[in-house]
Amino acid sequence: SALMNRRRDLSGLRVVVSAGGTREPIDPVRFLGNRSSGRQGVAVARAAADRGASVALVVAHADADALAPAIGRAGIELVRVGTAAELGRAVTERAVDADVVVMAAAVADYRVAETADRKLAKEDTGGVLTLQLVATEDILAGLVRGRRDGQTIVGFAAETETDADALLDRARRKRRRKGVDLLAVNEVGWQKGFESAENALTILGAEDEVVAQVSGSKREVADALWDAVLTSR
Ligand code: CTP
Ligand code: CA
Repeated sequence: SALMNRRRDLSGLRVVVSAGGTREPIDPVRFLGNRSSGRQGVAVARAAADRGASVALVVAHADADALAPAIGRAGIELVRVGTAAELGRAVTERAVDADVVVMAAAVADYRVAETADRKLAKEDTGGVLTLQLVATEDILAGLVRGRRDGQTIVGFAAETETDADALLDRARRKRRRKGVDLLAVNEVGWQKGFESAENALTILGAEDEVVAQVSGSKREVADALWDAVLTSR
């Protein structure tokens, strides 16, 4: 809208946003994945571009309709990746000269230790298949270790905790463990948070304080996140 176009308060900022969900291959035809559609991360990238930022959007397996707002948009460099390792390389490289990095992607915590060259067949497994999983690199932790002066690093956390106080406690522990400037927390569940166009976030600041509680369209939530980033800088 005209109103959105007038707000150019992110002009001159270089930002990196990751979105979507990584997939870790098991064999040539199968993977371990997650339910992220990419919708919230893409909305964060699009909001930044609309507000004047120069955006690198690193996206893993987003739904086509979720990605649409970022495709062909001036000010957004779209980088497509598949695995956690690929996402890590793409984000880390672009973070070097970024003012803000937002890790909205759902990154696999584990990958298959040895990817099979050929499709795993039932006649070879005898009906039981054991996959050995090894931890992936914590990309966000690496970004925080390499953070330069004046750089703002934002993490996301999707939690299934349903008790509000316990959710906040868990989120605060996570923010401290991660060392991020802002942590955007949302409650998810079988029926909640993934395919929806709406979202609800609690944003924690560097002192573990609640900076904002927002709900609405993923675009409205994205704008509130950028407001929180600006306030924190
Ligand atoms: N993240 C990351 N690299 C990973 C895993 C997560 O950069 N290998 C980032 C996510 O993009 C997100 C933040 O870390 O911004 C928090 O992710 P989350 O899965 O909530 O945290 P974890 O430390 O993986 O803890 P959990 O055991 O709760 O999954
Ligand atoms: Ca995780």
